[in-house]
Amino acid sequence: MTIIVTGGAGFIGANFIFHMMKAHPDYRLVCLDKLTYAGNLSTLAPVMDEPNFRFAKLDICDREGVYRLFEEEHPDMVVNFAAESHVDRSIENPEVFLQTNILGTQVLMDACRRYGIQRYHQVSTDEVYGDLPLDRPDLFFTEETPIHTSSPYSSSKAGADLLVLAYHRTYGLPVTISRCSNNYGPYHFPEKLIPLMIANALNDKPLPVYGTGENVRDWLYVEDHCKAIDLILHKGRVGEVYNIGGHNEMRNIDIVKIICKALGKPESLITFVTDRKGHDMRYAIDPTKIHNELGWLPETKFADGIQKTIQWYLDNKAWWQTIISGEYQNYYEKMYGNR
Ligand code: NAD
Ligand code: DAU
Repeated sequence: MTIIVTGGAGFIGANFIFHMMKAHPDYRLVCLDKLTYAGNLSTLAPVMDEPNFRFAKLDICDREGVYRLFEEEHPDMVVNFAAESHVDRSIENPEVFLQTNILGTQVLMDACRRYGIQRYHQVSTDEVYGDLPLDRPDLFFTEETPIHTSSPYSSSKAGADLLVLAYHRTYGLPVTISRCSNNYGPYHFPEKLIPLMIANALNDKPLPVYGTGENVRDWLYVEDHCKAIDLILHKGRVGEVYNIGGHNEMRNIDIVKIICKALGKPESLITFVTDRKGHDMRYAIDPTKIHNELGWLPETKFADGIQKTIQWYLDNKAWWQTIISGEYQNYYEKMYGNR
């Protein structure tokens, strides 16, 4: 079994590669990644020299390059994590989001059609459903919830999802889609809420909470997401969408206070700043379908996962400090420039 994992030098993709190498040591994993600002090759250092792993520096929008990789690797499956993933950046500059998230997805699926594939899996997000009101805790996103996006990021992910379903219906491409809630855990890029707050708190810098901090996200430990995708690849029904989330709803402000407490930092570091434009209030996944069909349940409770995550950032300061200093972007040239 050969699997192309796109975006594998990013947060969830790298965790997925580590999970798959452990869970399926007989599989070949090919990581295709452009190494944008969000890709960090040093994350993959532990698997780089494994005989069943290959890294290919490539843009998913590069049709010729993608076709060449398919000719070389004859993949059985493709799991597409590659995306521009940060909502705030999409508000500043939407274009690259449409390029990578929609057109890149099209190139990957065209390659799958041309060379044949057992499964194309699209890693999507709960943000395609828009948001839920804070005063209706009884409401959850199901797979039938209408698509109703708020940001250029979520719109680009929704556009890609529609295209994936269209390729299934029109061309019979064997696809699956997963729509997951907010992930957290090791290797999370320090522009996102949890790692940013940990890094800033450790540096005694202000902790910028958008608006009033009452927005709610449904947090899932990254390993639980990886296990869910593994199950969908092996047991999921072709043409289906699976929501992934774990009933771990938390207000942003409460998360920031937990981080302050765990690090022994004062809450006076918290600074309320201008809200994100179009800021979604609440995300909450109903994971009944993946539980009933595939037996998946999240294993890590937020209270444990957040402590594990904080500890990881304490134990791996070099990883995020080189990101903040910008030094990580020289890593590829330094390590692979002459290979
Ligand atoms: P990330 O930003 O940490 O990583 C994205 C990776 O994709 C990086 O390695 C980057 O170099 C690569 N990439 C970007 N553009 C590319 C291109 N044109 N060609 C090839 N590679 C490219 O993202 P993440 O948080 O790991 O998210 C991974 C996927 O999961 C995304 O599709 C995202 O929409 C989805 N998702 C994320 C979350 C979350 O909470 N982080 C939740 C649900 C779904
Ligand atoms: O729900 C899944 C989505 O989760 C993924 O599809 C996205 O790729 C991922 O980035 C994430 O989106 P969010 O916008 O929810 O994550 P972010 O970490 O950017 O923000 C989480 C919440 O914290 C959100 O309500 C905005 C708020 N926030 C964020 C930052 C970066 C702050 O209050 N201050 C901040 O500095």
